[in-house]
Amino acid sequence: MCSFNLKTSILLVGLTSLALAAPHKRATCDRVLLVEAADAYLDTIRSGNVSTLTPILASNWTYTENNKVIDATTGVIAKSLVIDHSRTNYDYAQCATYTELISASDASKPFVIGSQIRHNDDGKVNSIDIIASTTNSWLFNATKTLSYVVQERWDTIPEGKRDKREAIQAAGDAYMDMWSNATAHQAVPWGTPCTRLEGSAYTGKGAADDSCQPGIPSNHNQKPNTHRRYVIDEEMGSVSIFCIWEHMMNAADSHEFRLEDGKLRYVHTMTECGGKPCKL
Ligand SMILES: *[C@@H]1O[C@H](CO)[C@@H](O)[C@H](O)[C@H]1NC(C)=O
Ligand SMILES: *[C@@H]1O[C@H](CO)[C@@H](O)[C@H](O)[C@H]1NC(C)=O
Ligand SMILES: *[C@@H]1O[C@H](CO)[C@@H](O)[C@H](O)[C@H]1NC(C)=O
Ligand SMILES: *[C@@H]1O[C@H](CO)[C@@H](O)[C@H](O)[C@H]1NC(C)=O
Repeated sequence: MCSFNLKTSILLVGLTSLALAAPHKRATCDRVLLVEAADAYLDTIRSGNVSTLTPILASNWTYTENNKVIDATTGVIAKSLVIDHSRTNYDYAQCATYTELISASDASKPFVIGSQIRHNDDGKVNSIDIIASTTNSWLFNATKTLSYVVQERWDTIPEGKRDKREAIQAAGDAYMDMWSNATAHQAVPWGTPCTRLEGSAYTGKGAADDSCQPGIPSNHNQKPNTHRRYVIDEEMGSVSIFCIWEHMMNAADSHEFRLEDGKLRYVHTMTECGGKPCKL
């Protein structure tokens, strides 16, 4: 499977149109199905045995890692990692999940990984799409990232206070547009406090006026962040966006946003530069 570029771009275009299509409910998609698959995936991350996933996979499933379609048995999923932290978000409209996971305590293979898992109409897993950051990735330090993540509060947003998926996605997209659009920052619903965890760099000080705005792009003539794939969870107020980070070495990038009361509260990023040290 070496014709990565062509294959990947076809796949990514496919996923983008899937993400943008009007949400429709599948009779077979419920929390039980999504939890089972996300848990099976985490078990595989621990064991490194990809064959244990076979019962839940569609026959034509694809494994994508850092924006390349590869054989799963050569990927991070087969490395047998310690899981120090994981959180899964659920998107019923797309029958998909997003899982953030951190493997820090085995210093020989530290990883911070985002995974989007998509199911087909029969409920089988159609794709596992992973951004796997590690040594050399942008601002990478799994121990530090873990120390910040465990202090944050990602609880379920009470019914009646939830933002609509369109609003959550629009907030994430406006943020992702700031590199290529001079007015996009005006469309970001900046919240206070707001904290950004960029790799292992944390903008938060635990203060009531923590802001996510320091350090946002001032150059709006950069390449856009393309091939976006989304997982949106209204109960969590979150959107996971995977993309090609074109303005930094065409890196593989994961941005996750959480809104509270319509305002941006948390931003988490993972950016992997094809195994090379990430450089602006
Ligand atoms: C991997 O999982 C498969 C399916 O459950 C099992 O048959 C096989 O023995 C496992 N391999 C190892 C090395 O544990
Ligand atoms: C697998 O086949 C199904 C049914 O034809 C299709 O909907 C799905 O997109 C295919 N999956 C991939 C990853 O190509
Ligand atoms: C990660 O950060 C911690 C805490 O700042 C530091 O002690 C450690 O040396 C860092 N690890 C690496 C691999 O840079
Ligand atoms: C730039 O962002 C603004 C605010 O979101 C939006 O209204 C406008 O359509 C965007 N422009 C382009 C060219 O995408």
